[in-house]
Amino acid sequence: MRVIRSVSSIQQLIKKAKLAVKTVGFVPTMGALHDGHRSLLRRCRRENDIVVLSIFVNPKQFGPREDFAKYPRREQADKKLAKKEKVDIMFVPSEKEMYPAGYLTYIAVERMTQGLCGRSRPGHFRGVTTVVGKLLNIIMPDVLYLGQKDAQQAAVVTRMVRDLNFPVRCKICPTVRAADGLAMSSRNQYLSAGQRKEAAVLYRSLKEARQSVAAGNRLVTAIVGKIRSRLTRESSGRIDYVECVAADTFMPLKRIQGKAIVALAVWFGKTRLIDNIIVQV
Ligand code: PAJ
Repeated sequence: MRVIRSVSSIQQLIKKAKLAVKTVGFVPTMGALHDGHRSLLRRCRRENDIVVLSIFVNPKQFGPREDFAKYPRREQADKKLAKKEKVDIMFVPSEKEMYPAGYLTYIAVERMTQGLCGRSRPGHFRGVTTVVGKLLNIIMPDVLYLGQKDAQQAAVVTRMVRDLNFPVRCKICPTVRAADGLAMSSRNQYLSAGQRKEAAVLYRSLKEARQSVAAGNRLVTAIVGKIRSRLTRESSGRIDYVECVAADTFMPLKRIQGKAIVALAVWFGKTRLIDNIIVQV
């Protein structure tokens, strides 16, 4: 495995791979790798000749009062995991390498970034699409792997790829969960033991919503109401949002129809957790 820190070096490596007609798969991350990241890497390994993993805690997607400074950084442990998963190239650029002095250019997907996480984290998706756009231009992968865990991010990036004609295919991989259902996240380690236990209510409430849809309920106010009351009854978490949106546009729904996403964000102390499920009617 090569650990590469400069844009020009990785571009040279990729050029060689392309000349040898190798397919390149790409998994962008912010590191502190866990089983969720691992599942993306495994699928990428199965489906491509060259696996590129990037680790970059992107300052542009964090708000001024968010956790950029304390976000976990574990390059050595990540390197071990990446080697084990047979990553070919681990790209670990510095902030200066990605955003040299005088950096001025941004990518913003409109409308579908207004609601849900976009509402509580202004500027977040602009930071995400900017960094993913840059990484796609640098790495020029054939396939980009994203996690369903961050449903809005996956939909927004897929839309950017379509709208700006990036020559890459997006593949969205299912959410990997702990035994009690909590979605794996680098932020779970911020939780106290008590909060960690309570956090299992997120997926429990989403599963209940899925059952309710399966039983024929379509009215979003009722479905959201059930989730909210379970969350408040069974945890001390503070609800940021609970919403049902269309899977492709992320526009809010009044009634569940087609492929929809039920998504929520809840604060446990200073830690904000998100989760979602797909429902299809
Ligand atoms: P990060 O949170 O490190 O996640 C990297 C990728 O792993 C994302 O596509 C995310 O959806 C996926 N992922 C995280 N937890 C998962 C889980 N439990 N199951 C399945 N997939 C999971 O998302 C980011 O980084 C950044 O915003 C990034 C796209 C790298 C841009 O900076």
